[in-house]
Amino acid sequence: MTDQSVRDLSPDADGIVDLAALGEDFVRDPYPVYAALRARGPVHHVRTPEGSPAWLVLGHEAARAVLRDDRLSKDWSNAAPDAGLSVSVGHHMLIADPPDHTRLRKLVASQFTPRRVAALEPRVREVTSHLLDTMLAAPGQRGDLVRSLAFPLPIAVISELLGVPDLERDRFRQWSDQVLGAGPREERLASKRALDGFLRALLERHRARPGDDLLSALIRTSDEDGDRLSADELLGTAWLLLVAGYETTVGLIANGALALLRHPDQLAALRADPALLDGAVEEMLRYDGPVEIATFRFTTGPVEIAGTVIPGGGRVVLPVLADAGRDPARFPAGDRFDIRREAHGHLAFGHGIHFCLGAPLARLEARVAFEMLLERTSCLELDAHPAALEWREGTRLRGVKSLPVRWRS
Ligand code: HEM
Repeated sequence: MTDQSVRDLSPDADGIVDLAALGEDFVRDPYPVYAALRARGPVHHVRTPEGSPAWLVLGHEAARAVLRDDRLSKDWSNAAPDAGLSVSVGHHMLIADPPDHTRLRKLVASQFTPRRVAALEPRVREVTSHLLDTMLAAPGQRGDLVRSLAFPLPIAVISELLGVPDLERDRFRQWSDQVLGAGPREERLASKRALDGFLRALLERHRARPGDDLLSALIRTSDEDGDRLSADELLGTAWLLLVAGYETTVGLIANGALALLRHPDQLAALRADPALLDGAVEEMLRYDGPVEIATFRFTTGPVEIAGTVIPGGGRVVLPVLADAGRDPARFPAGDRFDIRREAHGHLAFGHGIHFCLGAPLARLEARVAFEMLLERTSCLELDAHPAALEWREGTRLRGVKSLPVRWRS
């Protein structure tokens, strides 16, 4: 980190650290900034790159405690007026508190049991194999791993699970990228409206022609028993599953591949011993997971967190999952990528009642993607300078936009 960026981390007269001033270096590599802040303490009043005020919580112990802190609310009706923009369409479990949360989560949870997810494995393998056939047939043995594998695999799996085989993927991706990105507010609002219209039309089509997919099952629940799932909750749940179900997994496969390619010794170790794969995926999640910062939590009264009192009135509290994974107090030499380390206990999937419902599915997709990619190539290398890679804007999701690679079969 440069002297300039250290100076930029000084709080202003109101005690606020302006993350928006840090620019592109922070997007490409936020870890040194978080580590420097963490060295001063776990809780910091900041202005986010999106321009709204928030309280950042750093370090593994403090972030973990906040994720399970029931003094904080996930409900946007508790948010302060300057909290920023809710990107959600409709109502869903990730913006709900118990008992609402418990009811909404239960309705979907039965679809994501380890057994049900394991039953999807043959199909995940089939899709991956097909994508690799196309990718590896490219002339010159080079291509973009995001475009060829990291993006199409999760979107194919989640759209099949939900029963949306004809999803207009590129258009859907553009809207969801913009909604979750850090662009101008108007652009994000326009994409949110577009997604809303798209999902309503999708639900209508499923209502007219139900199948045995997850979306049809949720519609049945809503139609037959509106007490269990209202129309707004149906819309929100469809939004949550589609968006949470793919953007994040794209990031896991892309960032995980980048970590392996930047550490050829680790890649060689994995090729030599495929039994290391499960641990390697956990290490990818810890080292450079796709959710940099957890979703908004709001204060409903003054709360003391790790010695700092955060005022009430809907102030935004943001646990930094990326920093928790690098905290040396929990993971010794946390900045080292080491697929043999004990990476469990990372917070990449969150913690507590909002722990990621799709974790078994995301792990399955990543395992299959890396297993087959390494099986089908004898050599795989980065085809760009790491500093030239473009990263998606914003601090919520972290991922390279494209990943140029070259290979030998
Ligand atoms: C590598 C991939 C993924 C990562 C890193 C990830 C990460 C997360 C995190 C950190 C949370 C909690 C956020 C918070 O507490 O603020 C979460 C919640 C959630 N995730 Fe994921 N996710 C991934 C993939 C998926 C997939 C594939 C699905 C579904 C198909 C999914 C569905 C959900 C749902 C429904 C919630 C809300 C749970 C609740 O509020 O009770 N996620 N995820």
